[in-house]
Amino acid sequence: MDKFRIAGGRALAGEIPVSGAKNAALPVLAACLLTEEPVTLHRIPRVRDIRTMESLLQYTGAEVDAAADGTVRVHAAKITAPEAPYEVVKTMRASSLVLGPLVARTGRARVSLPGGCNIGDRPINLHLAGLERLGAVIHQDQGYIEAQAPGGLRGAVVHFDRITVTGTEDLMMAAVLARGETVLTNAAREPEVVDVANLLMKMGAKIEGAGTSTIKISGVERLSGTSHTIIPDRIEAGTFLIAAAMTRGDVLVTGCEPEHLTSLLVKMQQAGVDVGPEGTGALRVRVPGSLRSVDMKTEEHPGFATDLQAQFMALMTQASGISFITETIFENRFMHVPELLRMGANIRVEGRQAIVAGPVKLAGAPVMASDLRASASLVVAALAARGETVIDRVYHIDRGYEKIEEKLRHAGAQIERIA
Ligand code: EPU
Repeated sequence: MDKFRIAGGRALAGEIPVSGAKNAALPVLAACLLTEEPVTLHRIPRVRDIRTMESLLQYTGAEVDAAADGTVRVHAAKITAPEAPYEVVKTMRASSLVLGPLVARTGRARVSLPGGCNIGDRPINLHLAGLERLGAVIHQDQGYIEAQAPGGLRGAVVHFDRITVTGTEDLMMAAVLARGETVLTNAAREPEVVDVANLLMKMGAKIEGAGTSTIKISGVERLSGTSHTIIPDRIEAGTFLIAAAMTRGDVLVTGCEPEHLTSLLVKMQQAGVDVGPEGTGALRVRVPGSLRSVDMKTEEHPGFATDLQAQFMALMTQASGISFITETIFENRFMHVPELLRMGANIRVEGRQAIVAGPVKLAGAPVMASDLRASASLVVAALAARGETVIDRVYHIDRGYEKIEEKLRHAGAQIERIA
């Protein structure tokens, strides 16, 4: 199992480029199952979750050609197995994103239930309830969800009891080939949802309102091939901004979309970080004085992203005062806390709230990555810590960050991968 060895205490400097968004690329790849024509995608990050999704598409019968430069061509001329087996789904929960496209395209799908995950229970009941509203008949058998809609799906009003990102994407992909109109209410407004809608519209789908809480979809008979470039990864960009601030560096994060990062930028500015746009698609970050603690609560977009909570908590260990950090999206997303404590942080968890007292001098230590974003927080903490940190189980970080050690090394970090 690979590890990262990081010698901390160096200010990051220079440019760090951002890759395509993993969480947009995953549903966009699934959407390619909706047409028998080829779809060409650009800026697909070469990370492990994407390779998993590509294997899943191949399992269903699609041809997938992935080039090292991030261009991926998917051709689902025929779907021979409308299935997502447990072996794939257990390693990547987002596999449930093929459910909507498979039922819409073939009238049936068999998808393993994902089971629990490190950050919470993460059920898919809202995906299933939505598909039932569109006329699918759903059974559960031996850990699998079987969805059938032999006569095709039909449009309906689908209200989400709670906002779900992949649930919104899954239902939108199902509805584009359904008969008649579908209205999704209390839909997720994440930029990744908008990116999927943009791809679907290029394929010929009729969608209005993506990016708002009400999405209207008029079903069409068939979709065609197209090409599409994935949006930049706002979580990766945010992680680099925090890493730069943690190390009191001076960094230009390039190839990003500042508008997708407003809630983070506002919090960083309140904490005393000088961060803002420089030119187009770039953010400059510096720390002119000392950092101040600010409170933060995770929320659905445009609120503060849960995927940046762990990294922001690491930053707050360097700020003077007390910061209350509240996690409202996932019930178990503080796995990084015990590891940050081993590096000298002063954090107490009470239910869904973490209370961070700072500033502390972090010191390197052997630590363990527990999930994707928790690992990212350990990396940023290690960059700011005195001495050496060894992070075990970096396969978690490889699920979603493309060449993170190379990118950070270019900005002056001392980080190496050890096998
Ligand atoms: N939920 C339900 N029932 C459902 C679906 C969701 O109760 O059917 C609950 C979840 O358990 C959670 C909340 O609703 O408490 C929100 O979950 P959501 O469905 O929005 O999460 P997701 O779609 O499974 C995506 C990202 C996550 C990100 C969340 C929240 C992808 C592939 N994954 O997950 O990304 O944290 O939205 O923004 O888009 C990551 O990249 O590290 C990651 C975990």
